[in-house]
Amino acid sequence: MMELKAGIFTVAMLAIVLSSPTTAQKSPPAPATPVLPPAPAPAPAPHHVDLADLLSVAGPFHTFLEYLQKTNVIETFQNQANNTKEGITIFVPKDSAFAALKKTTFANLTQDQLKSLLLYHALPKYYSLAEFNKLSTLNPVATFAGSQYTLNLTYDMGTIQVKSMWSNPKISSSVYSTRPVAVYEVNKVLLPMQIFKSDPPLAPAPAPAPDAKASDVAPNPTSGKAASGKAKADEKNSSYQVGVSIITYLALAVSGGLMLFW
Ligand SMILES: *[C@@H]1O[C@H](CO)[C@@H](O)[C@H](O)[C@H]1NC(C)=O
Ligand SMILES: *[C@@H]1O[C@H](CO)[C@@H](O)[C@H](O)[C@H]1NC(C)=O
Ligand SMILES: *[C@@H]1O[C@H](CO)[C@@H](O)[C@H](O)[C@H]1NC(C)=O
Repeated sequence: MMELKAGIFTVAMLAIVLSSPTTAQKSPPAPATPVLPPAPAPAPAPHHVDLADLLSVAGPFHTFLEYLQKTNVIETFQNQANNTKEGITIFVPKDSAFAALKKTTFANLTQDQLKSLLLYHALPKYYSLAEFNKLSTLNPVATFAGSQYTLNLTYDMGTIQVKSMWSNPKISSSVYSTRPVAVYEVNKVLLPMQIFKSDPPLAPAPAPAPDAKASDVAPNPTSGKAASGKAKADEKNSSYQVGVSIITYLALAVSGGLMLFW
């Protein structure tokens, strides 16, 4: 019985997949492997947040995440999130914030400086956005990088700015904020005076990417940017898309299977 059903299901699904115009169009990297029905997702444990997972799907924050992983600061952050009562608040610059700086800005930092720079983007305690009102009366505020590495926070009618020596980004969105973990997107990289003796130069305005081909393979708004060297990030994106399209096919297959019976 089960086998018969499964067989009908598979045949129906194959028929749908093969006849689907989408598959016919983008033939080369077709998902070749067996198509498994998605397991019902188990409810996530309420208090555990995987920071790397979170940062890899939000943003885009790939540059910041790569630095965190390269230096292992991701472990420090995750450990603080996992194991402390205080929790953590992280200010995460978008990829565009890193792109706005000259490429050489981080090139000759030592490993320790790079770590401090990353730790400077976090407070070793959870703060909801509402708590910044009070926090901004306590300037300068020490960061995870240590008591000398401070920020000056301003809270003006709900607009929160996070001032470092050479930049004054604002919190542009709340990516995640549930005690003990807060992740806030900022529109600039924080640049402390302990690491940068002078104002780091900005990058020249980027030329528009002449990249028409990539976009008709998949309607992915980031594909133009990705072409410039974010292969890893791109892989993630496309496997995510593959996952989604498998689910779409399954839905089609199920309705196709039903149609066979009617
Ligand atoms: C954080 O907790 C998760 C889940 O309990 C665990 O898998 C992970 O290894 C922990 N990481 C750190 C750095 O403590
Ligand atoms: C990198 O090195 C150059 C030349 O040695 C120096 O002028 C510059 O200030 C350094 N950059 C940083 C961020 O330390
Ligand atoms: C923060 O404010 C204090 C007092 O006004 C000032 O001395 C310090 O340089 C400021 N720090 C930053 C990072 O702007």
